[in-house]
Amino acid sequence: MKLLVTGGAGFIGSNFVLSTVAQRPEVEVTVLDALTYAGNRASLNSIADRIDFVHGDIADRPLVDRLVGESDLVVHFAAESHNDNSLNDPWPFVHTNVIGTTTLLQAVRDHDVRYHHISTDEVYGDLELDDPARFTESTPYNPSSPYSSTKASSDLLVRAWARSFGVRATISNCSNNYGPFQHVEKFIPRQITNLLSGKRPKLYGAGQNVRDWIHVDDHNHAVWTIIEKGVLGETYLIGADGEKNNREVLEEILKETGNPSDAFDFVTDRPGHDLRYAIDSTKLRTELGWTPQYVDFRSGLKATIDWYRENEQWWRPQKDATESSYALTESVVS
Ligand code: NAD
Ligand code: DAU
Repeated sequence: MKLLVTGGAGFIGSNFVLSTVAQRPEVEVTVLDALTYAGNRASLNSIADRIDFVHGDIADRPLVDRLVGESDLVVHFAAESHNDNSLNDPWPFVHTNVIGTTTLLQAVRDHDVRYHHISTDEVYGDLELDDPARFTESTPYNPSSPYSSTKASSDLLVRAWARSFGVRATISNCSNNYGPFQHVEKFIPRQITNLLSGKRPKLYGAGQNVRDWIHVDDHNHAVWTIIEKGVLGETYLIGADGEKNNREVLEEILKETGNPSDAFDFVTDRPGHDLRYAIDSTKLRTELGWTPQYVDFRSGLKATIDWYRENEQWWRPQKDATESSYALTESVVS
């Protein structure tokens, strides 16, 4: 099978490519990645000789048409993925998440290639902290940020191409991932690498916002399950019952790194900050038989902290620029 992975030098995409190459020798992998600030070719160093890597933009129509035409399956991870960046400059989000996805959809339509679309639970907006409800596949779309709005747009484009043109597509919407190779702009790596750099972690607002954490390997295992067993045209939510508020996660990181539980700063809150995400993944579990393997968040987090301790050469080059960029909009409240 010839597999085209977009965004394969990013966090989730690189973990997907690494596990696919390790576990599925019959799959020939081509990665298409623009190597934006978020893409890191070094994440694929250990398998560089076992994949084809194409440095390019998913909105480049002739390039995408050629690569899709040579493929049996496209798994689309490439995106602008960070909410904070989308609040400062939405244009790259529209370019990649909307124009880029449309470019891929036209190519899979023209070549009748199976397509799996990676998306986020943020398309559903947020839930109250005390709401017993969780997101399901029938929750109405209600995105809050430029990032989540462009991801919602991309999902709707996929649905339209499936219905109107018969594109053989599935969609998955996953909750917050953690694990190795995640950019230091994101919450968990930022706090770990702050501590490893002698800086204080930064908590937005009151730290009460809840995210539903899932290990990246569980996400990627679910993606393969959907590719192999999913019904065309369907959407599947991916989540591992990992709800925690940000303060709880930070306290766990502080404890694991031997720091006092109050060794952090409260900083200005993110505008429009979604309160809570929570996934009900019953459909994926009952219809396709998927279950998460990383059920102990603490041990998954400890392994992630160890990975950042042992791989400073991977994250160090991005650290100063990331913190300088945060410093432009963020100020310590207490
Ligand atoms: P990331 O920011 O770490 O990686 C994105 C990758 O896409 C990078 O390698 C980047 O170079 C590449 N890219 C960006 N624009 C491109 C373009 N125009 N052409 C080609 N490549 C381009 O993102 P991630 O966290 O790995 O997220 C991957 C996907 O999963 C995204 O679609 C995101 O919306 C979705 N998702 C992420 C999470 C999460 O917790 N990180 C959760 C649910 C869904
Ligand atoms: O839910 C899935 C989404 O999860 C994905 O679609 C996104 O691509 C991914 O970035 C992530 O979005 P979040 O906005 O939830 O992730 P982030 O790591 O930016 O922030 C997680 C929580 O931590 C959020 O409530 C904001 C908070 N936060 C974040 C940073 C960077 C802090 O308190 N301090 C920080 O320094």
